Amino acid sequence: MQNIDSYTHVRGESLFVDDIIIRQDTLFGVVFDSPKAHGKIKNVDYSEAENLKGVTKIFTYKDIIGENQIGGILPDEPLWAEDEVHFWGQPIAFIVAETEAIAKQARQLITIEIEELPVITTAKEAKTKGSFINAPRSFSLGNTEEAFSDCDYVLEGETFSNGQEHLYLETQGCYAIPQENGSIKLISSTQGPTAVQKITARVLGVPMHKVEVDVIRLGGGFGGKEDQATPWAVMTAVAVQHLNKPVKYILNRHDDLRMTGKRHPYSSFFKIGLNKNLKVTAFEAEFLQNAGAAADLSPAIAERTLFHATNSYFVPNVKTSVYSCKTNLPPNTAFRGFGGPQGMFVIESAIAAAAEAIGVNRRFIQEANLLSENDEFSYGQIATKVEVQNTWFSAKKKFELEKIESEIDLFNKNNESFKKGISLMPIAFGISFTNTPMNHARALVHIYQDGSVGVSTGAVEMGQSVNTKMLQVVQDILGISSEKVKLETTNTTRVANTSPSAASSTADLNGKAVKMACEALLGRLVKVATEMLDEDEQSISIQNDVVFVNGQKSKISWETLVAQAMLERVALSENAHYATPIIHFDKTKEKGHPFAYHVYGTAITTVTVDCVRGIYEIDTVKIVHDFGKSMNIGIDLGQVEGALAQGIGWMTIEEIAYDTDGRLESNALSTYKVPDIFSAPKTIETIPLETEGNDMAIFKSKAVGEPPLMYGIGAYFAIQNAVKAFNKSYVLKFHAPFTPEKVLMALYEK
Ligand code: MTE
Ligand code: HPA
Ligand code: MOS
Repeated sequence: MQNIDSYTHVRGESLFVDDIIIRQDTLFGVVFDSPKAHGKIKNVDYSEAENLKGVTKIFTYKDIIGENQIGGILPDEPLWAEDEVHFWGQPIAFIVAETEAIAKQARQLITIEIEELPVITTAKEAKTKGSFINAPRSFSLGNTEEAFSDCDYVLEGETFSNGQEHLYLETQGCYAIPQENGSIKLISSTQGPTAVQKITARVLGVPMHKVEVDVIRLGGGFGGKEDQATPWAVMTAVAVQHLNKPVKYILNRHDDLRMTGKRHPYSSFFKIGLNKNLKVTAFEAEFLQNAGAAADLSPAIAERTLFHATNSYFVPNVKTSVYSCKTNLPPNTAFRGFGGPQGMFVIESAIAAAAEAIGVNRRFIQEANLLSENDEFSYGQIATKVEVQNTWFSAKKKFELEKIESEIDLFNKNNESFKKGISLMPIAFGISFTNTPMNHARALVHIYQDGSVGVSTGAVEMGQSVNTKMLQVVQDILGISSEKVKLETTNTTRVANTSPSAASSTADLNGKAVKMACEALLGRLVKVATEMLDEDEQSISIQNDVVFVNGQKSKISWETLVAQAMLERVALSENAHYATPIIHFDKTKEKGHPFAYHVYGTAITTVTVDCVRGIYEIDTVKIVHDFGKSMNIGIDLGQVEGALAQGIGWMTIEEIAYDTDGRLESNALSTYKVPDIFSAPKTIETIPLETEGNDMAIFKSKAVGEPPLMYGIGAYFAIQNAVKAFNKSYVLKFHAPFTPEKVLMALYEK
């Protein structure tokens, strides 16, 4: 089944927020944001801007009727700054004008006086100064202290992984339209329609039923629109509340880069202990998460870092802790992997440090510690149906690892100025929102009297093709062709109280709800057919748009059956609710069973480093991935490739830079490099691991959105391996991204 959006995408006909035909009286907004990272607002002079012809009104916190509070997890973030600013780019006011150009011109006319306060930009500095978002969290298993005293090798070290810009193609934005009696409709580019609805209602001081949020699709989200699509929607809604006219705001790229948060940079410290047989018996890590100026999703992301701190390895003694450090950067937020990648980079670094000290190939330590059936994670969940060893050994075999390694050795012997490197990267990623209460979804399925079907869910289509998967579920359960099924927009009045489309769980949660709704409808229709054909229920099925009896085509078509059901006044609509069973987590003990299942895989990455220039190419990434029983391998392979490219970008060339005053320096695509076709691997080969799949996944087809991003971590270690082949005196460092500049320094370090 092809992606159902491909036709309109290719023709440029797919609709995004900026494509909506707007009402004639629409006004346009733009944010006035802080030109300093920290300080007291002494005075803002709006007078010249307000007097500019075409400016309708400039909104500030004083215009808020409800609460000036947009915090999701913690109430620590104002929509518009009051007397203090806490990051460069923090919204202070919202200018609404007849055109976008006038609004922008007005922005230039605003002057502000800020009494500057000290700026913190790094997590380490925040920790030293005791600047935190909330209390730290710790997970532990066994007793690391005792275990370290019995180890043959104990290594300590420090790592850093930088942030990452989402760079969704469609920037943030919203179009707000007044409805009757003070209601407002918001067309938003958000992964979390309910978050937008709830926070808008809070800020406007109205009940949630006054706010309808509609999402057609996103031009990418990658986590950047889980929480951070909200402020722009709320601002347009505040303006509508006062002006009773439609208001549109689409951020331009510069404003989006400057004002929105990114993946969290982490500074981390590790201690790893091993025995002579290379078993890791103890692991400790302290993670300092650079949260930025407000909580946003940082506490949840910090938690997932702890969940993934031992990646796909079994370590019997673990102690990890994480601090969400408050700094003067834009609040950092969800980004594909949600803190998991930051955790995994640390244990992979620790293994590299240990391998270097012991003098063994890194992969022997990895291999000696891969998870087995019934191993316990540090958070108490017992690993079952573990596939990591299967993916590891099958990758080694199918891709002929030893042959690749000897080819690389030979290449490195024969070449002075080019060196090749290799790494293996196993993954284990937990599927479910780590916050158990969020694991639910609903679907509303209508069968219209002509036999066509309309499906609404809480799932947001953001390019991951969840709509196609939902359609496949309907087609499969009802036994009808895909042309009969339409996926509706995601709308809070049709499907309420949704969790955001995130945590790679959207297809699982919403798909299960769609399946339940379709099964209920099918049951009612089969009953009608039973009477029409005078057969018993067990013998009836629907396939290819026709009623079948005992596997034989009957004369009754789907349309006839639906028409008959109408005559008999059978309900042709169904609303189903799914909540993931089994999962639970006790935060007071930091133990439980938070994940429905894990996704596993192994990637082998090879690279070539140009040792004169420090530049490099990713030659191949060869993966054995656990898709379960994929329901759409084309889509799933696309997710693997996209995530991999994004992971490699994070580890290699994407370098976020703030100056010490907290101003974003990498504020354009000329200074922030994302992988293009030349920096993508020349070959990506993905082999699905053959498994039975997992019942907790929709149609046993495992979630795929985030896990493959972490294969990209392999690129860091493959490059490191090549650098070491050139410069024996290079001391391993774990400071991502490994940019060409850093590679050059490493090649010639003495
Ligand atoms: N793929 C595309 N094309 N665009 C996106 O924005 N987001 C990723 C992933 N794949 C994303 C994507 C992230 S961060 C998540 S959590 C999942 O998709 C969300 O969708 P799913 O739950 O349906 O996998
Ligand atoms: N993953 C992604 N997004 C989330 C999560 C999670 O575990 N929890 C809350 N939002
Ligand atoms: Mo994805 S980071 O869970 O939106």
